[in-house]
Amino acid sequence: MSATIVVGGFYGDEGKGKITAYLGLKDDYSIAVRVGSVNAGHTVVYGGRRWKLRLIPSAFINPNTRLRLALGSLIRLDVLWRELEETKCSGRLRIDYRAGVIEQRHREQELRDEFLVKVVGTTGQGVGAAMADRVMRKLKLAKDYAELRGYIGDVVGELLEAVERGEKILLEGTQGFYLSLLHGEYPYVTSRDTTASAVLSEAGLGPKHAGEIIVVFKSYVTRVGGGPLPGELSEEEAAKRGWLEIATVTGRKRRAAPFNYELARRAVRVNSATQIAVTKLDVLFPKAKGKRRWEELPVEARNWIERVEEELKTPVTLIGTGEEVLDTIDRRREVYGP
Ligand code: IMP
Ligand code: MG
Repeated sequence: MSATIVVGGFYGDEGKGKITAYLGLKDDYSIAVRVGSVNAGHTVVYGGRRWKLRLIPSAFINPNTRLRLALGSLIRLDVLWRELEETKCSGRLRIDYRAGVIEQRHREQELRDEFLVKVVGTTGQGVGAAMADRVMRKLKLAKDYAELRGYIGDVVGELLEAVERGEKILLEGTQGFYLSLLHGEYPYVTSRDTTASAVLSEAGLGPKHAGEIIVVFKSYVTRVGGGPLPGELSEEEAAKRGWLEIATVTGRKRRAAPFNYELARRAVRVNSATQIAVTKLDVLFPKAKGKRRWEELPVEARNWIERVEEELKTPVTLIGTGEEVLDTIDRRREVYGP
């Protein structure tokens, strides 16, 4: 078997947390891995509770799944302890011993950097500064911290053995294609590549290990921080349409624009998507709210999804119709058969 990879197709905040949690619950992966770092917040709403996760894999809601942080990820101890407390999954978590650790000085360094703060609009979490230290070979790794001794291990070795044994694993990407250090509009980007290939590499797996590659789009586009946003609406117009969101990590207002086929097409092609997930369909079509079956969707909503499939030449297999993880239409049987 192989790895299912979930990545964002726009500027982050597409709802990867919700989609990943849904897959984790329904598909019973033996291992779920999260890459990236604490600048990315993934929201999971399930069983009447809400979590805002910056490190722990969103699939933690499945108690049978082992949780892993990748060797390419960057962790922060305070965030880790807080999330372990909130998710109660301490016994299931392991961190690759080569994962990097962000220190207070990294955050201070970013917040002192006027270009990063004012022009790029960094989340100020120290991720870029820590990444730069990794490149300069000055970063401390998880294995250097006594507090982490009970959590570290060879996650790469474990993932290789799992795929070789035929187990299913889930790789949760962070941020979106257009925030990629390589593919986004430099310098208005984050400090890592955000593509499916990079997710594999951050987890320590190879191209042959990729199975399904799911690119997540929201039914409209949002962006926080600086940089271009094609078709950007005024704040008033965004609010009127119900598209004005508040960022998970920084509490800033997100800028908003209509769904963009041209952006989506490039994201689908570079990620070599095999499936598309669309979230927040209920924001575009309020009558879609909470629907869990394709047939229950209003016809305009179905037409809209079918146009996305046609334009992007890729099946839309998962559709989010509300915040709750189970408010999801799963068309995978219909598309691929039982
Ligand atoms: P940094 O990666 O925190 O330095 O932020 C660089 C740029 O990427 C800024 O415009 C941030 O708003 C944006 N960014 C970083 N992570 C996320 C995310 O998870 N969601 C949305 N935007 C992000
Ligand atoms: Mg987010």
